[in-house]
Amino acid sequence: MPWPFRKPPPLNHQLEKMRADWDLRARENARHFIATTQEQWTDEEFFSSGELAVKQLILSDMANICQDRQPSGMRVLEIGCGVGRITRALAQTFGEIYAVDVSGEMIEQARTALAAFPNAHLYRNNGTDLSVVPDIPFDFAFSVIVFQHIPSQSIVENYIREVHRLLRPGGLFKFQVNGIAHCGRLGRILPARLRRATPANTWLGAPVSEEEALRMAERSGFECRYRLGAGTQDFWLWFFKPE
Ligand SMILES: C[S@@+](CC[C@H](N)C(=O)[O-])C[C@H]1O[C@@H](n2cnc3c(N)ncnc32)[C@H](O)[C@@H]1O
Repeated sequence: MPWPFRKPPPLNHQLEKMRADWDLRARENARHFIATTQEQWTDEEFFSSGELAVKQLILSDMANICQDRQPSGMRVLEIGCGVGRITRALAQTFGEIYAVDVSGEMIEQARTALAAFPNAHLYRNNGTDLSVVPDIPFDFAFSVIVFQHIPSQSIVENYIREVHRLLRPGGLFKFQVNGIAHCGRLGRILPARLRRATPANTWLGAPVSEEEALRMAERSGFECRYRLGAGTQDFWLWFFKPE
């Protein structure tokens, strides 16, 4: 029976598939699968692209992110760090970075990239929760180009709940999801539950509509204060944990 009419595989199968696929991509050409605009990246080009992203997405938004705290005194959480492109730039600005990734291969390469940054702590996680991260309060959490690849919206929502568990009251989780429903014209006539990426596809993540984002915020105990780019690949959400 073709997806989406078939029952999804059990969660552990989906997570194993995610890990296997991302390990393979990491071995083949990690940098290209992380930043697909180039096939080959020099060290300088690749990590500069992370610095530019941090400048555009974080340094331009410090009032929401720091809320009068000094960045050097802040503890930051990153979901889906890959080989540390963004993590390295975060480690140059913030006090402590804790970063997770489902792929052990990505984490190994990130360890090399971050060898000179003792304030960066890297973990291979299970692809759905943050149980590997110490249970300590975080001031800010961030994720980019990760949830757009996760085939199941319930996994994304689980991460949101997990961030809520670890974030200090008042703290911000800023993250990007895929806002595009992938069924084209058919998407308009299909009910939302059928407009899903398939669990076997770990590249094309489940889309998140504006309404779904708001419902996830409410169910997880966040206030969705801002959102930008609904209906596009770069749908950004600012979820604040209430004081
Ligand atoms: C396109 S890369 C982006 C890496 C990094 N965020 C950056 O911008 O440089 C996507 C990363 O997300 C990781 N990833 C995919 N699914 C994940 C999941 N369920 N949990 C944690 N990490 C995941 C992949 O292993 C990969 O390293």
